[in-house]
Amino acid sequence: MSAQELVATAKAMVAPGKGILAMDESNGTCNKRFEALGIAPTEENRRAYRELILTAPGLGEYISGVILYDETIRQAKKNGTSFVKVITDAGIIPGIKVDTGAKDLANHPQEKVTEGLDGLRSRIAEYYVMGARFAKWRAVITISEKIPSRGCIEANAHALARYAALCQEGGLVPIVEPEVLMDGDHTIERCYEVTEEVLHTVFNQLYVQRVVLEQIILKPSMVISGKDCPKQANVVEVAQATVDCLLRAVPAAVQGVAFLSGGQSNEVASAHLHEMNARFSSILPWSVTFSYARAIQQPALELWKGDNANVQTAQKTLLHRAKCNSAARNGKYSP
Ligand code: 13P
Repeated sequence: MSAQELVATAKAMVAPGKGILAMDESNGTCNKRFEALGIAPTEENRRAYRELILTAPGLGEYISGVILYDETIRQAKKNGTSFVKVITDAGIIPGIKVDTGAKDLANHPQEKVTEGLDGLRSRIAEYYVMGARFAKWRAVITISEKIPSRGCIEANAHALARYAALCQEGGLVPIVEPEVLMDGDHTIERCYEVTEEVLHTVFNQLYVQRVVLEQIILKPSMVISGKDCPKQANVVEVAQATVDCLLRAVPAAVQGVAFLSGGQSNEVASAHLHEMNARFSSILPWSVTFSYARAIQQPALELWKGDNANVQTAQKTLLHRAKCNSAARNGKYSP
């Protein structure tokens, strides 16, 4: 794939009024979410649920790309049509999660490093042939009194950069996702400080590995109070802190920023995205949109409950959240 094609894909992923739907939960995570709602954690249920999402009528009006998991990219509708065909027919770009998960980082208690570099070049080649045009790799940074450590931040930034370089070589646009978790009682100021350090380190490593910034999408977490912090920053404060932090740490050449929701409620995730676009779009050098999983899917999953009879109601709810976030991407959301 040429440089122009990678740039065109990255631009399309963050096009006005559109954002990315993450539906790349590993089987373990998907099963956990099913079990919490009494849905049997079977391969057929995972397939049926993903069919519900991908066949929601008009999904492509709000969604530019969907991130799939290895099992899902190989699956098909009940009638045999492959999911990749369903996605492309809807005008949506298929993407694929390629990391193999966050594992304990040796000598760093409570910290993780994301794995998946071994054999990645050939997996990328296979996914490209299957129709994927972008990929995702998620690094996880935890905040507590003594962490994150430099060792954790640097190991994750290095892996993200090696992954991104391999993606570009193989024709996929890399989504670079350094997630600073909301878990903990830290303040928004502490989240700011950690996010800024993480982003600076990631962009330094992307530079060292010769990653082309115009051909990536950054998927950061927002700068937000820890979920157990007694003082919760409001929507305006979160939008301001997130924009300030990103303006200081994210080069203007980056094609787009697509936030994760990270456990924020559906409405709050939309409100934060709206506020950033409504207040700051004239000074932001990149398009700012969503790449949400839970904040789009959760209400639909709760309505579906594993029952075919609930498919249409669940699809309506899914489309509603997609539409709300599409409006927020344009700074036009009202709850
Ligand atoms: P959430 O929006 O649920 O945080 O998920 C986004 C994602 O893809 C995490 O890697």
